Amino acid sequence: LRKVRVPLDLGDRSYDIVLGYDVSRLLGEEIRKVSRAEKVMVVTDSRINRLHGKAVMAALVRVGFSPTVVQVPYGEQHKTVAQIGRIYDHLVQHRFERSSLLVALGGGVIGDMTGFAAATFLRGIAYVQCPTTVVAQVDAAIGGKTGVDHPKGKNLIGAIYQPSLVVVDPLLLVTLPKREFVSGLAEVVKYGVICDPQLFRFMEKNVDAILARDPKSLTYCIRRSVEIKAAVVVADERELGLRKILNYGHTFGHAIETVTGYRRYKHGEAVAIGMIAASFLADRLGVGNSDLIARQASLLAALGLPTRFPRLNPDEIMKVLYSDKKVVGGEVHCILPEKMGSVSVQKVERDRLEGVLRDLCLS
Ligand SMILES: NC(=O)c1ccc[n+]([C@@H]2O[C@H](COP(=O)([O-])OP(=O)(O)OC[C@H]3O[C@@H](n4cnc5c(N)ncnc54)[C@H](O)[C@@H]3O)[C@@H](O)[C@H]2O)c1
Ligand SMILES: [Zn+2]
Repeated sequence: LRKVRVPLDLGDRSYDIVLGYDVSRLLGEEIRKVSRAEKVMVVTDSRINRLHGKAVMAALVRVGFSPTVVQVPYGEQHKTVAQIGRIYDHLVQHRFERSSLLVALGGGVIGDMTGFAAATFLRGIAYVQCPTTVVAQVDAAIGGKTGVDHPKGKNLIGAIYQPSLVVVDPLLLVTLPKREFVSGLAEVVKYGVICDPQLFRFMEKNVDAILARDPKSLTYCIRRSVEIKAAVVVADERELGLRKILNYGHTFGHAIETVTGYRRYKHGEAVAIGMIAASFLADRLGVGNSDLIARQASLLAALGLPTRFPRLNPDEIMKVLYSDKKVVGGEVHCILPEKMGSVSVQKVERDRLEGVLRDLCLS
């Protein structure tokens, strides 16, 4: 892979997403182009540090930094204000300044936390994303949404704060546990359905290569996803309009995750079921497309993602749907696929939604 640069244009907060193999070369070079920092701290978790910490530290040392590391325990349950506090402690202890730099090495949890710490420490210092999961490479590391969870809800505390650079090395994904890897692919399928029929077709044709983590196939999927996410963020940074389409599969997906206490499904798995549910709803509302519905279900299944709606209590799902922070004026906005590569956002009446949910839960 030659280095690929995807610019994300947000005026004076613009930055590049650089894709390439071998983070130990790429990261240092690219950081030097965007930062004159004297102090750099890598934020990561114990698992990722063990696997990839050395390469990343070497990359930074090679270009003249003497980086320090702060390790957060791994897992969503540690995406908390308390852990942010620990990061601040390290920053204070090492006398970090306005001009210092944080590097997020990890999945979405690490990326969101590092971004939030960077947004708030000294009212904002620079940070770089080096994502190590599929979810983080195609989604979380791009677009500047940062934050932590509250015991009462996910991502309740946060800020929109853009990184200075995102460095994406698809080879980092080879160490990802299989279920984690496959779950992330649901997001790539999502990009295909919402705006890229070619990406969708590519995935259909290359399921085996993708599952084998063939670098070329994987890189194509990630590159297209990155380009799409970047374009959507540029068009609508604060999710006032277009960025909503990225929530395809997520309205139902989040509800399923919540009702099952975030234990039964990985995020992408819930999104896979959510996409199936959204297309079922579209069908009921007369805007569905049977070809899309069939292809989406078979691709998700071929990748090893769940496609059956779980037998949950529809009333509980309704409750979650209507308490979501994205509900506007009491109306749930659903992202409905109309044909491959195009979706619409529609308000759906409560009774209608409830009827469809009952059928899904009993199906
Ligand atoms: N900011 C955004 O726009 C955005 C978008 C999507 C998701 N998110 C957030 O991202 C989080 C989920 O992120 P995730 O799915 O990346 O999960 P994650 O960050 O929890 O990482 C999953 C697990 O994989 C391990 N891991 C990471 N990289 C690895 C590698 N290369 N090899 C081996 N193990 C590795 C980690 O230690 C962790 O245990 C959620 O908190 C979600 O809210 C944010
Ligand atoms: Zn998602």
